[in-house]
Amino acid sequence: MSSVAVDLGSTRTLLADPAGRLLLDEPTVAAVNVRDGSLVTFGSKALDMVRRAAGEIELVRAVVHGQLQDLELTDRVAETLLTRVRRQVGRRPEVLVSVPSSASGVQRRALERAFKRAGAERVGFVDHAVAAAIGLRLRIDEPVATMVVDAGGGTTEVAVMALGGVVTDASVPVGGDDLDRAVRDACLRSLDLVVSPAVAEQLKIRLGSAWPGPEKKVEVVGRDASNGMVRTVVVSSSELNPAIAEVVRRTVDAAVSCIRSAPPDLANDLLSQGLHLAGSAGLLDGYSRRLATATGIPVHLADQPGLAAVMGAARCLQDSDGAFGPTGDARPRGSR
Ligand SMILES: Nc1ncnc2c1ncn2[C@@H]1O[C@H](COP(=O)(O)OP(=O)(O)OP(=O)(O)O)[C@@H](O)[C@H]1O
Ligand SMILES: [Mg+2]
Repeated sequence: MSSVAVDLGSTRTLLADPAGRLLLDEPTVAAVNVRDGSLVTFGSKALDMVRRAAGEIELVRAVVHGQLQDLELTDRVAETLLTRVRRQVGRRPEVLVSVPSSASGVQRRALERAFKRAGAERVGFVDHAVAAAIGLRLRIDEPVATMVVDAGGGTTEVAVMALGGVVTDASVPVGGDDLDRAVRDACLRSLDLVVSPAVAEQLKIRLGSAWPGPEKKVEVVGRDASNGMVRTVVVSSSELNPAIAEVVRRTVDAAVSCIRSAPPDLANDLLSQGLHLAGSAGLLDGYSRRLATATGIPVHLADQPGLAAVMGAARCLQDSDGAFGPTGDARPRGSR
């Protein structure tokens, strides 16, 4: 039976087959008709459409802080996603969804219902951090402890794993989106400048840093907050980084608290093994260094960190051989 791994992230939606081939990579945004609330299209097509059809079509984020925003919309999104990959996975695939460990029963049931209505034969779940560890090919079934931090757009997921199970985990609804918001707020406060979400994200990527470094500057276009006129302004890293540091601290604290609640002998393993950083928000300049300093543990930043969770879910499908087990959960063999 064919199967597909789904990572419905706060920023990006990724689908992969059990061989680890990426079948879909889209921003998690929907174009919705303002009159009747129907889904017009999803992903980058939605972004294009809103640029052209302003007024009639509204851009809606389907997932915020790792949480589904609207159950009706989730049904439509699931249908769109499975339709787009139907040629590769068939009409009734098994679907394994990577979710934040904090995802409630309601959220999981909503996803299950949505994918089943869209044609899925069966729907299972795997926690983000566990999926990321498997995607990074870490040996989580060994007696030695493994730690993963998945810093995403909407959530930061942390897990310490050993012997195929999760020993301790943490999930905070804070991620790259909050960094973008912090950048927007900082532009408003210190420059009286209103910038778009896309400009804020670019400023974060080009100027933002979680670790002190040389001053950088970028010219951006925004609106003057007092008179609404378009202005070109030079923004410096020193204007943004205090606000960035505050958001980063909240994500790093999740990792620190996870380590504190791990048994002492496992903490020792972590010191020698290091912790693995996945999630694209982990690409923020200086983030690894900030995390390593706060935890006292060396940090290994993954190649293509944003793909780790979906690739892990894809590998679970390979291992589960098309059978998630009675609970609908795909867990690595021998875990929990
Ligand atoms: N080079 C970079 N520097 C800093 N941040 C980056 C960089 N590249 C991407 N990001 C940020 O990474 C975030 C998206 O990460 P990712 O794709 O892992 O999230 P997601 O899986 O969609 O969300 P989540 O798992 O939290 O629900 C965005 O906030 C984006 O701006
Ligand atoms: Mg993610």
